[in-house]
Amino acid sequence: MVLKNPVIAASGTFSFGAEYARVYDVSCLGGICTKGLTLHPRRGNPPPRLWETPCGLLNSIGLENPGVETFLREELPRMRDLGTVVIANIWGETPEEYGELAERLSGSGVDAIELNLSCPNVPGIGLLGGSAKGTAWAVRVARAACGEPLWVKLPPEGDVLGAARAAEKEGAEAISAANTFRGLAIDIATGRPVFANTFGGLSGPAIKPLALRLVYELSQAVSIPVIGIGGIASWEDALEFIMAGAHAVQVGTANFIDPLCAPRIIRGLEVFLKERGIETWEGIRGCAH
Ligand code: FUM
Repeated sequence: MVLKNPVIAASGTFSFGAEYARVYDVSCLGGICTKGLTLHPRRGNPPPRLWETPCGLLNSIGLENPGVETFLREELPRMRDLGTVVIANIWGETPEEYGELAERLSGSGVDAIELNLSCPNVPGIGLLGGSAKGTAWAVRVARAACGEPLWVKLPPEGDVLGAARAAEKEGAEAISAANTFRGLAIDIATGRPVFANTFGGLSGPAIKPLALRLVYELSQAVSIPVIGIGGIASWEDALEFIMAGAHAVQVGTANFIDPLCAPRIIRGLEVFLKERGIETWEGIRGCAH
């Protein structure tokens, strides 16, 4: 699939786009990834759900979302009017649930489906993407259930390269790398973890070098596009990911600091190309290898 530019709003930081559409014309984006959708609505974890860290943010949201049926009925028609590519991010407890979700979304008008194969905030489950076997199983079931392009969003931990190769073999069109790193914060007044679920997912500039390393390795391990995610807050960050081999990037936590950061990144990349007289990303992508 062709995006108008390589900058996508990351799942879980952009809701379904409506709030940001009040701030700027989101049709300038390369695409929008929805919050992770599940078969049934989820209320998410009890507060606190967010904890700031030096250069980062821990979250313990717990996959709060209205469920796939409400998404299809109420959110998708509005999203289709936003004038950019809609990527439905989905999360299941089992490979079969990914299949059911993909089938439900098939033919609905979403442009792509991103399988979220991890979540640091759901105890005991949600780490299919941590292994090649779990990833292959989920991608195979989802691939059989829909014709839309399938992107596979992997956790940054576990056998990431093996999982990516397995996803490619099972017919995934792109790898999104990566989800948040599991982290911990402790309230020194109580001596207890700040989150009810103990761990949270760390995002933001603190993880950028780690995510960049993953993208560098992944883009050599698979031949499908890799979409870089992790602490991207400026056009220079985005460019580093492209130079590491990414075909596109997703901007997440930075949206909370500056809601206008995504259009700023798009403009910065355009100016970079123009100033150097470069027509396409092909000459630059992966130049760091
Ligand atoms: O808790 C959450 O909703 C986070 C989801 C994720 O990291 O995929």
